[in-house]
Amino acid sequence: MRIDILCLFPEMFVSAFDQSIIKRAKEKGIVDIVIHDIRDYTHDKHHTADDYPYGGGPGMVLKPEPVFEAMEAIKQQLNTSEIPIILLTPKGRLFNQQIAKELALYSHLILICGHYEGIDERVHEHLATDEISIGDYVLSSGELAAMVVVDAVVRLIPGVLGSPMSANNDSHSDGFLEYPQYTRPRVYRGWSIPSVLLSGNHREIACWQRHQAILRTAKQRPDLLKKATLSDKEKEWISESLLNPK
Ligand code: ADE
Repeated sequence: MRIDILCLFPEMFVSAFDQSIIKRAKEKGIVDIVIHDIRDYTHDKHHTADDYPYGGGPGMVLKPEPVFEAMEAIKQQLNTSEIPIILLTPKGRLFNQQIAKELALYSHLILICGHYEGIDERVHEHLATDEISIGDYVLSSGELAAMVVVDAVVRLIPGVLGSPMSANNDSHSDGFLEYPQYTRPRVYRGWSIPSVLLSGNHREIACWQRHQAILRTAKQRPDLLKKATLSDKEKEWISESLLNPK
């Protein structure tokens, strides 16, 4: 997959994309991330990328010209036209694991990082094909949001994670939060791991893990549980467990 990112603060990506899973994905040639500085497409000597909002109001607005010109320069290097152009903005649709899965299927993505008080509306209307928010809060930098989206997407591309099963077990991959995980030592400061994990009985372990995932989701994210498919027995079991916590 190739990912082009248009932004005002390219240095922010240097360390973030040079660690851990993204670094390995780049080294394996699975992903190529190209960062473009929007200021390189300005024409005045101060490289001005923002201006005052028409109609007044606080803050500055990212100008349309350098963003459109940056995009045209990128598109000239490519021969495909069906590339999602995603604007990171708090006004976008809320990012989640399902959207990450959908984006992971593309061979190319282009991300535009908004900034300041906003970005000229003509970028929303005539350039972006999708708008994504990573949460109901306002960041000072769309760069951080782009990092979140890239990380969530890249780890889903086949071959990126060590085991293809890893992403399947993640929280949100099946609509539940992930079950509790333990590693050695078996007893730490007097706290033992659940004995079922030592039983060697894979069916029982899988059953315990599912119950734990459901229980955790019921406690932390009841909104997710409403959308999940549960058997009648499981529904009964959750009500009992929540009424009589151990
Ligand atoms: N830019 C500023 N806040 C944002 C958010 N919540 N999501 C995406 N981009 C943003």
